[in-house]
Amino acid sequence: MMEDGKILGIISIKGGVGKTTAVSNLGAVLAKRFNKKVLLVDGNITAPNLGLHLGILNSKHTLHDVLYNQVPIWNAIQKSEHGFDVLIGSLVPKKDQKGRVNPYKLHNRLSQIKKDYDLILIDSSPNINDEMLSTMIAADELLVITSPDYPTLSCTMHAVKVAKERKTPIAGLVLNKVRHKKFEISADEIESSTGVPVLSVIGDDVKVLESLSKTTPASICSPNKDFTIEYSLLASKLTGDDYEDPRLLSKIKRVFGK
Ligand SMILES: Nc1ncnc2c1ncn2[C@@H]1O[C@H](COP(=O)(O)OP(=O)(O)OP(=O)(O)O)[C@@H](O)[C@H]1O
Ligand SMILES: [Mg+2]
Repeated sequence: MMEDGKILGIISIKGGVGKTTAVSNLGAVLAKRFNKKVLLVDGNITAPNLGLHLGILNSKHTLHDVLYNQVPIWNAIQKSEHGFDVLIGSLVPKKDQKGRVNPYKLHNRLSQIKKDYDLILIDSSPNINDEMLSTMIAADELLVITSPDYPTLSCTMHAVKVAKERKTPIAGLVLNKVRHKKFEISADEIESSTGVPVLSVIGDDVKVLESLSKTTPASICSPNKDFTIEYSLLASKLTGDDYEDPRLLSKIKRVFGK
């Protein structure tokens, strides 16, 4: 029997820092470059938007149908054109789904399909609520997305504290939207304030925004850009698979060329 896959929760308690972007890009590099069987799940239950990032607006069944016990989880999973599977949420509530959905069922439902995947990535809500806690409970490990400014750092410290209290291991931080300006908080300072390693530093790049308008992960639109290499390095850290940074090779070639 295949070993169970790992469930990775992608969290932050600040909106707009890049959780959904990280989920779609990590999913794309894990599937395309590392040949992993990957499922992306929209755990942002009240404001799902993973499907919007990927251009998947319709699904016969959604995570909401699964959490309302209307269909088994297998029926709500669909294949994407980028090599990974997706489980999206309903953008608007269905008429026959009355009452509040129970996000805590996520853990049980995902455990039914864990063995079918190498990795399951959960995109989470930016608020500390039942939805985010359900991601923490369902996940084997967490990645916390942050950016180099004090308001986000304060939210990141809070998210780390909550994860530690709930005893969900944190794989590390992803420092996103970095412009390498002097006024930005450094990765070292973020590490010492949170006690968690920064696994990846991803630059702020308008190409990421452009890819959103094309509803395609940026790593697919721009396979040779720095952010794609950074997501690939992050994927290799998470899986333990080898990945050689192509920038090192071109640097060596430049030196020898001289
Ligand atoms: N490295 C980056 N460079 C430039 N733009 C980025 C980068 N990462 C994310 N963005 C942009 O920032 C915006 C917010 O990203 P995203 O939707 O991934 O954040 P989020 O944390 O999932 O937000 P929410 O909490 O609302 O779900 C999007 O327009 C996205 O394209
Ligand atoms: Mg999001």
